[in-house]
Amino acid sequence: MSEQVIAEHYSHGSLEREILNALTTLGADPEHLDPEQLAPVDEFHIGGRAATVELADRLDLCPGLRVLDIGSGLGGTARHLARRHAVEVTGLDLTAEYVHVAASLSRRAGLAQVVRFRQGSATSLPFPDGSFDRVCMLHVGMNVADKAALFSEIQRTLVGGGVFGVYDVMRIGPGEILYPMPWAATSATSFLSGPQRYRELLAEVGLPVQAERDRRSFGIDFIRETRARIAQDGPPVLGLQLVMGSDTALKLANLADSLERALLAPTEMICLAR
Ligand SMILES: C[S@@+](CC[C@H](N)C(=O)[O-])C[C@H]1O[C@@H](n2cnc3c(N)ncnc32)[C@H](O)[C@@H]1O
Repeated sequence: MSEQVIAEHYSHGSLEREILNALTTLGADPEHLDPEQLAPVDEFHIGGRAATVELADRLDLCPGLRVLDIGSGLGGTARHLARRHAVEVTGLDLTAEYVHVAASLSRRAGLAQVVRFRQGSATSLPFPDGSFDRVCMLHVGMNVADKAALFSEIQRTLVGGGVFGVYDVMRIGPGEILYPMPWAATSATSFLSGPQRYRELLAEVGLPVQAERDRRSFGIDFIRETRARIAQDGPPVLGLQLVMGSDTALKLANLADSLERALLAPTEMICLAR
């Protein structure tokens, strides 16, 4: 039930058309897209492309590895990994519209051979054991109530010695969180856990955390700059407001508030599969 509500939260109805219209306004050819030009809209997490680059650099990637991106959204992370690191990426996402848009943008960017996308749930991965050398997940755990099942599925589909990198918004202090947030309209579909809980659950399934970084101040700076730019120039032609909808400003304000009050922090963890 909650997965259906979560997919509805992210569903838009005409996202592909709006993104292609924005790109055309900016002078792009929709049939020959430059993946770099998509970054303002296809990186749906705090820190955008910069955060993806930093996480990717910690995954010990080398050409030809098989990578799973869980909750792949519009496919920005998958395309970046495939282009920058020459890996083969599978993206898995709950939201059917995102899977469609991710595949379409990848085809239009000439990357259909190296990235593929599939609809499904992270707590029941439709892949055989040991299918991937690396797994990454950016800003998805906040939507997953059963993190034990999530991490157990990740461990199952990773090869021994494989690496899992997660970059999630985690609960770091007590206090009331305001909604809507970018990932949930209300607390009913927001399942925030603290770094300690992540560490325990990951260790239990055989994915002990090797390295961890609190990215709160990076996140505060990123959101502050984003909001200041919008206040000065209005929303960009191609920006995350196309994805987040008419209450984007409120979602960003609530997110900024929770980071500044040290209730939440984007946090990165790198785990090694035993
Ligand atoms: C905030 S977006 C992040 C998207 C992408 N990782 C990125 O950083 O651009 C969260 C994504 O997680 C997906 N998602 C949420 N719960 C999921 C689940 N149980 N299984 C798979 N995907 C899920 C949503 O559909 C959405 O695309």
